[in-house]
Formats: sequence, structure tokens, C-alpha cells
Amino acid sequence: MTVDLLLGLQWGDEGKGKIVDVLTSKYDIIARFQGGPNAGHTLEFDGIKHVLRTIPSGIFHKNNINIIGNGVVIDPVVFKSEIDGLAKFNLDLKSKLIISRKAHLILPTHRLLDAASETAKGKAKIGSTLKGISPTYMDKTGRNGIRVGDIELADFKDKYRALANKHEEMIAFYDVAIQYNLPELEKEFFEAIEDLRKLDFIDSEEYLAKAQKEGKSILCEGAQGSLLDVDFGTYPFVTSSNTTAAGACTGLGIAPNKIKEVFGIFKAYTTRVGSGPFPTEDFGDDGDVMAKVGNEFGSVTGRKRRCGWLDLVALKYAIQINGVTQLMMMKGDVLSGFETLKVCTGYNYKGEVIHHLPFNIEEENVTPIYTEFKGWAQDLTGLTTFESLPKELKDYIEFIEKEVEVPIKIISVGPDRKQTIMK
Ligand code: GDP
Ligand code: IMO
Ligand code: MG
Repeated sequence: MTVDLLLGLQWGDEGKGKIVDVLTSKYDIIARFQGGPNAGHTLEFDGIKHVLRTIPSGIFHKNNINIIGNGVVIDPVVFKSEIDGLAKFNLDLKSKLIISRKAHLILPTHRLLDAASETAKGKAKIGSTLKGISPTYMDKTGRNGIRVGDIELADFKDKYRALANKHEEMIAFYDVAIQYNLPELEKEFFEAIEDLRKLDFIDSEEYLAKAQKEGKSILCEGAQGSLLDVDFGTYPFVTSSNTTAAGACTGLGIAPNKIKEVFGIFKAYTTRVGSGPFPTEDFGDDGDVMAKVGNEFGSVTGRKRRCGWLDLVALKYAIQINGVTQLMMMKGDVLSGFETLKVCTGYNYKGEVIHHLPFNIEEENVTPIYTEFKGWAQDLTGLTTFESLPKELKDYIEFIEKEVEVPIKIISVGPDRKQTIMK
């Protein structure tokens, strides 16, 4: 029996989907614990590229169960399109995919509220994916939300109507021009609810407790990244859930002392999509090369990701908050060809050198201090062993390990399942 946890250590899109897929064969159950369709987890194997939004990244493997936990927010409409997108793979979803009754539902009006709130913020907007994430979590913590289990109850439609009516009043209150046709959105929503009903709803905390007693192995899959955590991220430019390790406990009902390994995923450089502070962002050619070579365009919104060098101050912070026991470094291949690599090891902050994330991490307050490394020219995408990696990359890895005091166990050198080097 084991419960392990996998999460992103930066601002999301670190490559969580790929690594969950790589590790899945070792687990009986893959369980997503927070976030919603703001996530886009990309898997590539056998010439197929597939992006998952709400469905756990273990879904393509045989003989396992995939759980959508209580901490996740589900948009039935997006979920239906996800299910439709999987049809060609002939997976037995009815037996492989189960949903917590306690997961909250994203209503069409949550999406509209997200848009109204962002429009009203103007230049100060968060850069939300506009999937209704924040309004849905607000209704959850405000104790107004509608949960998957409510679908099974007789008053589901009444509950829906009452909440949607309230949302319409709130949208009007924002006083911004949001065009929408609610009857049409509702038709789509209720049709998608019928599809959702075809899957089994469970009390997932009970299911997972029983699975642990039976000696099953569980991998908890995070979404977003630690710097988007609502408590510990670059607030207010964050998402609305706890993306860090504690989120797995509350998002699945797994006790903290049951979690064994905490796998922390990071890119060999840094990216961020949406607004907010990003100390090592590179506005010159280096950032452009990372974006181009790394194909850094959002898997959900298609937006260009902001790029920059690896920030060890931020990485150490994320490792500390999450209790990371093993690191996985992604997209090492993207750094091939740089003559010099830079790694941020501290910040100049108001005339002082600091090694932690300050409360005011805004650009005007923080200037990164870099250590430089010699780059390598070699293409890494065909390499399969740690020994065959260029010496300069090994030096880069060794430096990171020494600084953060956690071993890097996997080095990813391409998007495909096979382009994964175990150390
Ligand atoms: P996630 O949200 O953390 O699952 O990450 P995304 O799927 O949003 O973004 C990661 C992107 O990088 C996807 O397009 C992956 O296919 C791709 N990717 C993952 N690992 C590697 C790698 O080692 N090298 C390269 N070049 N691409 C990778
Ligand atoms: P995965 O799981 C990268 C970002 C958005 C925005 C902020 C708030 O694929 O790593 P929200 O829609 O949650 O209100 O947006 O968070 N964001 C992500 N960035 N990867 C993600 O997920 C993200 N999910 C949300 O761009 O800045
Ligand atoms: Mg993503």
C-alpha cells in the first residue's frame, strides 16, 4: 500500500500530465484532487497527443481506476467534450472513471461571472482561463455551491434555478457588457448533466480509505502549480484552490500521515501564463527562444506563455511548502543550444540580498541574482540514459540538487512518454 503525491512546483504546465502517465503503471488508482478545466494536462505516446482537463492522466492505462476527487470543480459541458474526445480510444470509462459526490459543479453562470469579474478588473485582471473556477470555489466556501451528488436529488433543478438567478443579479451588478443567451447555455448544461449521470458517483473518501486498507497504491494528481496556490502563491494572481500538498488531503480525504513520496515537477526554466509577478521573466531573445523551442502556448487557452530562467528561490519555497521528496526536471531538451544558462539564486530586494519570496514580490521590488552555467549544443531528444547526457547538463542538475537538497530522479527530454530518463 502506498499513497504518493505528484504536483507542479512553478506556475503550472510543468509537465504533470506526462509524468503521471509515465508513472501510472505502478499505481492502482490515480486521483485528481483540485482545480478544474482550467488545467490542461498533455500526454503524448504512440504518435498520439492528448490534452486532459478534468480527467486524471492515468486514464489511458489498463487495469486502473481514475478518481475525480471532492476538491475538483467540474464543468459538465467541458467534461462531456472530454469524454467525447476519448471515444476513439475505446476505453471502458464506466468502469475506469468515478466521481466524488462532493465535487462542486461549475454552472454556466459561473463562467459568465468569471468573465464579468475579469472585465471589471480591467488592467488589473488575473488573466483567468475564464472557466468559472473562482466563482465556483467562492460558492463552495460561501456554502452556496451545488455538488455532483445533488444531481441525484429531486430538488436539483430548483437548487440550480435559485443559484443561477442569484448569479444573474451579480452579473448585472458588475455593470460590464457581457452578452449571453442563458436558455441556450442551460440546454447545453442539462444535456451534459445527463451524460455525467452515466458515470458512477461515489463517496470518494470512503472508496479511498477502503482501497488503502486493501493495500492498493494511489497516486494523487495535482493541477496548476505551487506558485498559483491561493494561500502560498503570488496572490491575487493565483487560482482559487490549494494546489500544494495539503490540497491532496482536503481534496481527497486522505490523511497527511498516509502520504509517502511527494513528487515535485519543474521545468528546467520557468513559464507563466496570465498576469502576475515573475521575477526571472526574460523579455529578450532568450525568453523568445524558450517559447519557440518549448512550444510554450497554453494547452487550454492557446495563450503564449511568458518565459524566463529557472528561479531556485521560488523552487526552494515550493519544495519546502510541499515537503517534496523527489524532483522531476522537465523540458531539459529546450535548453540545448544556449551558450550560457542562468539560474536565479537570490533576489536583490530593497537594497538587501534575500533568499525567500517576499510579500511584495512585484517586479519593481525584486531583481534576480543569477549564477551562470556553460550550455550544451547536443540534441537531447533521443537520449535514454543519464550517463549519455552532456556534462554541462549534469553540472546544471548537480548544482540544482545541491541548492535545493532534494534529488532529481527523472529528467524529461521530450514530450513523448518514452523521452523520459530515470536517474
Ligand atoms: P501540465 O499542465 O503540467 O500537464 O503541462 P502541459 O501539458 O500544460 O504543458 C507541458 C507541455 O510540454 C506539453 O505540451 C507537453 O507535451 C510538453 N512536454 C512535457 N515534457 C516535455 C519535455 O521534456 N520536453 C519537451 N520539449 N516538451 C515536453
Ligand atoms: P495546469 O494544471 C498554467 C492560471 C491562469 C491565471 C490564473 C487563474 O495545466 O498546470 P483561473 O482560470 O484558475 O482563474 O486562472 O491561473 N492557471 C494556469 N496556468 N497551468 C494551469 O493548469 C493553470 N490553471 C490556471 O492562467 O493566470
Ligand atoms: Mg497545463
